[in-house]
Amino acid sequence: MSERAESIRQEFQQKLGEVKEALELEKIRVEYLGKKGHITGLLKSMKDFTAEEKKNFGRQVNLLKAEVADAIAKKTVELKELELEKEINSMGEFDVSAPLDLSRGSYHPITLVQRQCENVFKSMGFAVEDYSEIVTDYECFESLNIPKHHPARDMQDTYYLENGQLLKTQTSAAQNAIYKKYRDALVNDGIPIKAIFPGRCFRNEATDACHENTFFQMEGVMVGEDISISNLIFFMKTMLSEVFQRDIKVRLRPGFFPFVEPGFELDINCLICGGEGCPSCKHSGWLELCPCGMIHPEVLKAGGIDPEKYTGFAFGLGMTRLAMMKYGIKDIRDLNSGSLRSLSQFTDDK
Ligand code: DAH
Repeated sequence: MSERAESIRQEFQQKLGEVKEALELEKIRVEYLGKKGHITGLLKSMKDFTAEEKKNFGRQVNLLKAEVADAIAKKTVELKELELEKEINSMGEFDVSAPLDLSRGSYHPITLVQRQCENVFKSMGFAVEDYSEIVTDYECFESLNIPKHHPARDMQDTYYLENGQLLKTQTSAAQNAIYKKYRDALVNDGIPIKAIFPGRCFRNEATDACHENTFFQMEGVMVGEDISISNLIFFMKTMLSEVFQRDIKVRLRPGFFPFVEPGFELDINCLICGGEGCPSCKHSGWLELCPCGMIHPEVLKAGGIDPEKYTGFAFGLGMTRLAMMKYGIKDIRDLNSGSLRSLSQFTDDK
């Protein structure tokens, strides 16, 4: 390499070694590779060379040019990494794998009640099923013996999607799918259908201390040969006494639901006011907790089950109500408030 080229190279290497930031590097780039830069100058200096000299010298200069460009590119990456490191260090300690500070939260009262109910029913051989919140009209109404224009629909206005699907108004909307899922085991192997399916439900209604447009239910069904109302009463009583860990008063009244026959309302004594009457129980002393009944033959048929051979019961437990009773929550709207302070006061089992 010519002396001139070699001294340019050494000078470049030295300057590059001293560079600390991107701006300095850019200056060096212009100084060496720019139009008026040293390397361009070398190429220009060849104009009086012979053809042979031009060839040799040109090759050397081009190699030098590539070396300089390469070194600048590497330095650019190096500087970027340094800059990032500086930024990270200035952030102080930060452990991305550390868990969130859970000590500030608590399980939602409805989660706690749902788990308790699930455990009781699981211990009695029930399967726990999950189901979508968006369902079809058939699932939510038609398959449950509620045809179009049936007055029972008036009680359950909801939110409709443009494609005709809707946000489910009741966990009963999963019944049809559950029957279809388990009917082969029932018919072929004689295994009774026993399932619970908790879920979020929606209704288009004005909110007050005891109504919300979003709430939780837990549906349960049992279908087999010779299933009767006694079975229904046994399972409901067992479950409620486990959840409340004490004897609670209940009453059964006749109730109408198109998908059960006969249908009942299972009420429990209001635990907030002790039965004297308060806004939570609409001043009646009783809370409607669990409508239930014997599954209507049409509903079994829609699920592919022969009502001549099999019978069953169904219940729709108001889980939101149950949580309010259990934790003494006076206003249903607190449950959806999202306020950690307000929610954690109801429970100490985290
Ligand atoms: N799905 C009914 C509602 O939300 C509640 C219900 C009533 C469920 C009777 C049942 C039942 O399974 O047997 O109003």
